[in-house]
Amino acid sequence: MLLEIKDVCKVYKGKVKANDNISLSMAKGEVFGLLGPNGAGKTTLVNQVIGITVPNSGTITIDGVDVIANPAFARQACSFQPQNQLPVYLLPAINAIELVGQIRGMRKADVRRRANELIDRLGIGQWRNVIGQNSTGGIRRLVCFCMAVVAPGDIVILDEPTNDIDPLRRRQLWQEVRSLAEAGSAVLLVTHNVHEAERVVDRLAIIDEGRVLGSGTPAELKASEGDSMRLELILEPGMEPPPLPDFLLETVASNRRMISKVEKENVVSALELASKLKDDGKVEEFSLGPITLEDIYIRMVGRLEEDEETPEGETK
Ligand SMILES: Nc1ncnc2c1ncn2[C@@H]1O[C@H](COP(=O)(O)OP(=O)(O)OP(=O)(O)O)[C@@H](O)[C@H]1O
Ligand SMILES: [Mg+2]
Repeated sequence: MLLEIKDVCKVYKGKVKANDNISLSMAKGEVFGLLGPNGAGKTTLVNQVIGITVPNSGTITIDGVDVIANPAFARQACSFQPQNQLPVYLLPAINAIELVGQIRGMRKADVRRRANELIDRLGIGQWRNVIGQNSTGGIRRLVCFCMAVVAPGDIVILDEPTNDIDPLRRRQLWQEVRSLAEAGSAVLLVTHNVHEAERVVDRLAIIDEGRVLGSGTPAELKASEGDSMRLELILEPGMEPPPLPDFLLETVASNRRMISKVEKENVVSALELASKLKDDGKVEEFSLGPITLEDIYIRMVGRLEEDEETPEGETK
């Protein structure tokens, strides 16, 4: 494996166990997702991979090299988009991107071509010559993404790259992530968006409170639920959650969403119930379908995220 993280523990100020015995590995050419809620310990973990933070115990190797002892090697092997954006306030987007490419040793002509390609593919051409200070939060994040990937290392680490990005450009960014992996980099994609993880990654780890709760491909993680289905009800605004029959299992609710597990033999009853709730004006809409990564996330993390966005019409 290209990246091997073994038994990593990080305790801040002797109290917060930000990483509690984390072990993960990542191969060349794969997109690996690190999925978890706020405060799960995701940024702490990636900061240790690139040598910004030193673990209390455990080992991290890239290509067999101990990066805790050789942080300079990690910085050379990894391209990194930090969660908190880089200060590109006074540079036009194109110059900021080209600068990183040149620092990473690319030829001037190559770096210009690659920077312009990225800008065009992400649809930010109108900000090409605009300094960071005069652009927007979302555009600045996209420029930071371009800076991270203009001259990609063997490992590309992206810490929440799609926060504040609109659905269309988010899709373009996912395509770039896929291209990076196809070109041979290992991409570590940090996200708290389960829909993003489901669409983009080859494998992922779900982490919370510093621990890995599960890992594998999305299909492997979903296989733990057998062939059960999920019913999602969206309540009419202001409607109290209706009492639900026993065949709707492990229901979790957040705002107007209620999600339940349904065994195969109860699928018809679940559909009849949902239609009746809709006819009675209690439910605005519903869907019945296969288990998703979100269901696995809910079971492992124990709650439904409040602000999950579901980008419309997405397919992997
Ligand atoms: N420098 C620090 N000093 C003390 N505690 C810290 C520090 N950095 C992070 N923490 C704590 O460590 C835990 C993990 O934080 P971390 O930033 O790694 O989470 P995260 O999964 O990246 O969260 P988010 O999704 O909000 O970015 C949290 O409880 C956080 O408060
Ligand atoms: Mg973070």
